[in-house]
Amino acid sequence: MYATSALTPQLSASHSLSSNLSQPSHPLSLGFSFTFRETWKVFSPPTTSFSAQRVSLPHFSTLRVSATSQASPASTEASKVSSLPSEMKAWVYGEYGGVDVLKFENKVSVPELKEDQVLVKVVAAALNPVDFKRRQGKFKNTDSPLPTVPGYDVAGVVVKVGSQVKEFKEGDEVYGDIHEKALDGPKQSGSLAEYTAVEEKLLAPKPKNLGFAEAASLPLAIETAYEGLERTGFSSGKSILVLNGAGGVGSLVIQLAKQVFGASRVAATSSSGKLDFLKSLGADLAIDYTKENIEDLSEKFDVVYDAIGQCDKAVKVVKEGGSVVALTGAVTPPGFRFVVTSNGAVLKKLNPYLDSGKVKAVIDPKGLFPFSQVVEAFSYLETNRAKGKVVIHPIP
Ligand SMILES: NC(=O)c1ccc[n+]([C@@H]2O[C@H](COP(=O)([O-])OP(=O)(O)OC[C@H]3O[C@@H](n4cnc5c(N)ncnc54)[C@H](OP(=O)(O)O)[C@@H]3O)[C@@H](O)[C@H]2O)c1
Repeated sequence: MYATSALTPQLSASHSLSSNLSQPSHPLSLGFSFTFRETWKVFSPPTTSFSAQRVSLPHFSTLRVSATSQASPASTEASKVSSLPSEMKAWVYGEYGGVDVLKFENKVSVPELKEDQVLVKVVAAALNPVDFKRRQGKFKNTDSPLPTVPGYDVAGVVVKVGSQVKEFKEGDEVYGDIHEKALDGPKQSGSLAEYTAVEEKLLAPKPKNLGFAEAASLPLAIETAYEGLERTGFSSGKSILVLNGAGGVGSLVIQLAKQVFGASRVAATSSSGKLDFLKSLGADLAIDYTKENIEDLSEKFDVVYDAIGQCDKAVKVVKEGGSVVALTGAVTPPGFRFVVTSNGAVLKKLNPYLDSGKVKAVIDPKGLFPFSQVVEAFSYLETNRAKGKVVIHPIP
């Protein structure tokens, strides 16, 4: 299933992102033309204080906000259970809507553990389009009750383990997508908080050579990229066209197709300014969707991976007997759509590729936001222009 690729990694490690990370990053895990220092300059520290944004939400059931107890201290020794607070800082929304429904709270109950879960001190979290679509109420029929702490992706440190947990112990550095089913009953308490509770089967050890921000950028997007490729039966020697190669998922589809599955040829679409970026990820052909219509391509592909919602066009450039997988939008046969299932085993399989730098985390040059700027981070993601991932780091 995992073709061991003899291909040389396509990305050059020319810049360092490690200056503001809580631990050093592997040089090979970087490689894109941006630095965290630049990011901090672009997104200067917030002027809005946490306390100014605090509101009281009326109906907290399992997700409680206390009006009386002390704010939790930031945990600097995350592995010590004895230092665990009962309350934490978290971003919360109590109604569906735009970014304005997001509120900062500093007295949210630390989630209680189930026996198969670990409690993670969150160090970094990433945003995904599903976070804002969920917040907008698009999945309200299958969502958990409000209020919600958003956030699927996490990287952090295990601070407590449930009675049935076998693999992880306090102090372990882990990462994962905390919601097993993205749309079907996701947890009420997500990763945009100081602590999050997650089943151990959804987690994997954090790749040693990646910082927390890089690790947090990966789980949902890379699991989606991998599951989609598997569902198409993608394998060594096949060709693929990725629609939206520059986004969080597409940037990893390109890399996995080339470096993990052994694609013979990878084509991908983006706007004009991101064509070099697609090439740097390993694309053999970068198509400017503002100038070329993929339906006019003379070439056809074994697989078309639609990460933008153009299945009607995608089916026109697939070879006879090939596969078209769609992540969003209407499906045109023979295309099919799936919703990612979180799975720590997939991350464990991919860890060697991440540790070696063959597959790299991609954080948007303007996409690293501190915990105080979650609203700004969502606003940026919702422009639909992010290059790679939008990450929240550090989380105190
Ligand atoms: N079904 C699932 O399980 C699943 C899982 C993950 C994601 N998704 C969905 O898949 C979609 C992509 O997710 P994502 O995280 O990759 O999104 P994303 O990171 O927000 O995508 C942003 C990118 O989209 C590109 N883009 C915008 N319009 C485009 C167009 N017409 N053609 C090609 N590229 C275009 C932009 O590049 P330019 O600036 O160059 O246009 C930008 O770099 C979302 O709708 C998400 O909800 C579904």
